[in-house]
Amino acid sequence: MLAIAQPSGPGGPETLEWAHAPDPELGPGEVRIAVAAAGVNRADLLQRQGMYDPPPGTSPIIGLECSGVVTELGAGVTRFAIGDEVVALLAGGGYAEQVVVPVGQVLPLPAGLTLIQGAGLPEVACTVWSNVFMSARLQQGEWLLVHGGGSGIGTMAIQLARAFGARIAVTAGSTEKLDACADLGAELLINYREQDFLEVVQTEIGGVDVVLDLMGAKYLASNVKVLNRNGRLAVIGLQGGVKAELNLNELLRKNATIHAASLRGRPLHEKAAICEQVGSVVWPWIQAGLVAPVIGAQLLISEAAQAHRMLEAGAVTGKILLTIDRAASA
Ligand SMILES: NC(=O)c1ccc[n+]([C@@H]2O[C@H](COP(=O)([O-])OP(=O)(O)OC[C@H]3O[C@@H](n4cnc5c(N)ncnc54)[C@H](OP(=O)(O)O)[C@@H]3O)[C@@H](O)[C@H]2O)c1
Repeated sequence: MLAIAQPSGPGGPETLEWAHAPDPELGPGEVRIAVAAAGVNRADLLQRQGMYDPPPGTSPIIGLECSGVVTELGAGVTRFAIGDEVVALLAGGGYAEQVVVPVGQVLPLPAGLTLIQGAGLPEVACTVWSNVFMSARLQQGEWLLVHGGGSGIGTMAIQLARAFGARIAVTAGSTEKLDACADLGAELLINYREQDFLEVVQTEIGGVDVVLDLMGAKYLASNVKVLNRNGRLAVIGLQGGVKAELNLNELLRKNATIHAASLRGRPLHEKAAICEQVGSVVWPWIQAGLVAPVIGAQLLISEAAQAHRMLEAGAVTGKILLTIDRAASA
């Protein structure tokens, strides 16, 4: 098959090459998918630079999610049939013509979407669902603060929280991204380049019940301060560093909780449980038109380097997708 490789080793976007690679081996309980499109995630940029190794035993090829058609079933798989259109949450391997994935991480393509439109859903839907709903237990009517509201993750978090009946505050770095967040249902819009989010939230709404954070250390103190009593902080990204001082008294006084999690390294049974809930709750919201993929750009997979440059520059609202052009690859 063809896949994105880095023959010259980790480095900048220019190290990504569309080249021949061995077909992945299908194991029991796995499904082989002919990839139609793959989603680009911030973690892909780190892996490309050699700073985020795939979990042991998983594909070294970059790519945490894809859509495609089932071409082969491993022993014991009964939930899908050859020819089914699906999307999949991957530990790696998505930037390729073929991928194999445990069946628990495969979901049917949501009704009403094209295969390309579905490619960027699994990573953001599973991350937001597992952190905001399963761990932080967002309740109807509560306020959720989403940092980076214009990101792939952010655009999904806003939509899921809104579909569920929560209220949403967001931070973003431009008016354009804040406008997009408002269109998706965010009510309190904060430009983090010009405003202090803590000050704005405290002035406008007092505090929030849940924070979905991607900045880590840089925002820890303010994230804790911005929480209401019984508030929950879910840290999923460390773009602002890994180490910070924590005032435990702030947490204690509010009976607040901090939770941090990475989806990629979770055991298979946990990922399968997350996918199952996403399929039963989020997929019907998509079918009902309450939630839709936000696709900021679509490129050919041979243009993966350009896609990485665009994500790095923050040039896109929502997801960037890489499509496989089989005619061109043949
Ligand atoms: N833990 C997990 O399992 C998991 C899974 C998936 C993703 N993630 C994390 O979630 C984050 C989003 O991922 P993605 O793939 O959706 O990436 P992305 O689209 O590249 O988004 C990155 C976002 O960071 C925002 N940002 C940068 N500096 C900020 C600041 N000072 N304050 C608030 N926002 C700021 C950017 O906002 P502007 O563009 O508006 O400047 C942008 O929206 C990443 O940190 C990623 O590592 C974690």
